[in-house]
Amino acid sequence: MSSTSIVSSPPKLVVANWKMHGSLLRNQQLIEAYLQGLRSITRAEVVVCVPYPYLAQMTDLLSGTSVAWGAQNVAKYEEGAYTGEVGAQMLKDFGATHVIIGHSERSTAYCESDENIAEKFMMAKRYGLTPILCVGETLLEREAGVMERVVGKQLETIIRLFGGEAFANTIVSYEPIWAIGTGLAASSEQAVAMHEFIRHTVATADKTAAGTVKILYGGSVNPQNAVQLLNQKEIDGALVGRCSLDAEQFIKICQAVPENSVI
Ligand code: PGA
Repeated sequence: MSSTSIVSSPPKLVVANWKMHGSLLRNQQLIEAYLQGLRSITRAEVVVCVPYPYLAQMTDLLSGTSVAWGAQNVAKYEEGAYTGEVGAQMLKDFGATHVIIGHSERSTAYCESDENIAEKFMMAKRYGLTPILCVGETLLEREAGVMERVVGKQLETIIRLFGGEAFANTIVSYEPIWAIGTGLAASSEQAVAMHEFIRHTVATADKTAAGTVKILYGGSVNPQNAVQLLNQKEIDGALVGRCSLDAEQFIKICQAVPENSVI
């Protein structure tokens, strides 16, 4: 005989990725609106990933609040003659706790290899930053049915170089490239299938790490599709681009985190 019960869901993580948007004035208005809207929300943990120059502003605006902040990239080097790069220690100096690694908008434009991304991932960890590793396939790869092979390879590079335990307490964001900025999000079935695959891949390398890694979904998340996506137990949260630039929409996405789940 099957029975259903209602359990309280764990909080979910909603990450704002501002990409290359913002100004001192706009950021201040946006953060004030976030903080106002988040007052009544207890189910969403929020991290805001801003362009480097605004990290200092985040320390002013967000210190002592429940909202954490981070960057959108980090150097794979500790320090040295690397013009234009920003090191993990520098992010720490400005209170960053998280950093996005391997976002497709960077890896495509700057031809970043999986190895390069793996080194950045470990550099972030070495300095106590939580890496948010972005993985995902192109539309062609999905149509060819090789999406798991592609995402598997992105994860395997880290596993091969640093072991499965490298994923302990980190974040992986499944970001199908065809869904980013297109208005066409993955269906919750597509996302859940890939999230299960990601957790299984990590578990095969290290079971304990697989129990602590958070797996987010990113790609055209909006207040409408967030309800369905964030209600899936396999989806630990969302990475939000465009809709994070509009406080009302961003707050609605945070509100979509369910209080309870039916199991
Ligand atoms: P989007 O961006 O929400 O604008 O599609 C998502 C992302 O950066 O991953």
